[in-house]
Amino acid sequence: MKIRILGSAAGGGFPQWNCNCRNCHGVRTGSLRATPRTQSSIAVSARDPAAWVLVNASPDILAQLKAHPVLQPARQARDTAIGAIVLVDAQIDHSTGLFMLRESTRPLPVWCTDHAFEDLTKGNPIFGVLGHYCGVDRHALQPDGGAFELPGTQGLTWRAHAVTSRPAPYSPHRESPQPGDNVALEITDEASGRTLLYAPGLGEVEPHIADALARADCVLVDGTFWTDTEMIDLGLSKKRARDIGHLPQSGPGGMLEQFARLRPAVRRILIHVNNTNPILDEDSPERAQLAAARVEVAYDGMEIEL
Ligand code: MLT
Ligand code: MN
Ligand code: ZN
Repeated sequence: MKIRILGSAAGGGFPQWNCNCRNCHGVRTGSLRATPRTQSSIAVSARDPAAWVLVNASPDILAQLKAHPVLQPARQARDTAIGAIVLVDAQIDHSTGLFMLRESTRPLPVWCTDHAFEDLTKGNPIFGVLGHYCGVDRHALQPDGGAFELPGTQGLTWRAHAVTSRPAPYSPHRESPQPGDNVALEITDEASGRTLLYAPGLGEVEPHIADALARADCVLVDGTFWTDTEMIDLGLSKKRARDIGHLPQSGPGGMLEQFARLRPAVRRILIHVNNTNPILDEDSPERAQLAAARVEVAYDGMEIEL
């Protein structure tokens, strides 16, 4: 299977339009060795180079599509290589790009859980609005780990696992998360026998997620914050990483500790990186710590083959 990282930043992107934190200011002025990043999205394909599954539709989708010509096979007047769209949650950074795809010649084929569907029809009724354009052909995603297939990716087995994270800030259930608000996707290439675990929002590693991490050959997981108090320490927010559903990388029980339990050959990649995270500064001690632990930081345009 082939994976293209379309957007590797968390909500807001990097640099964030109104942010002058050390990273955002530094990348804007060129005083920091760092690369701009668009918001959270990946594309996955099996054998057919003209058939891709879009995982999450970021508000930066149009720029991302331009940056990846492989997603436009140009076989007819109106065309796309995107045969299915999977949403891991109903967050703004993962769903509002659907508006940019409203010229679709057929209803957008979207897979999401019932909880995400509810948020996208009530709290933030993107699906209702799209009904006035191309419409949405919605398919239920069961967050129970059961195997399913998606159009165009024959040979890949997909599984969605409920993860402890948070529904979007606008969700009526923000303060009472339910299983299925956020999922991790486990994708196995039956021919190569290799598995990707993609979880851009991972607030806690429950036993079934620890098992999925242990099965994977490549983990592409929540790289939002380095510390639990990153936003508080910078005076940018009153919320801790864990309060908004993201497990920090450092500290007790953090993502680096989780990574240390994996088989040495497993590829460990952080994605959905918030603009405040010191790992974006390629000369930072935190980035050196990742390199020493053989942990990679996803970047826009990164290609993974499994
Ligand atoms: C998150 O992942 O916590 C959200 O994307 C934050 C946001 O939408 O601003
Ligand atoms: Mn997000
Ligand atoms: Zn910033």
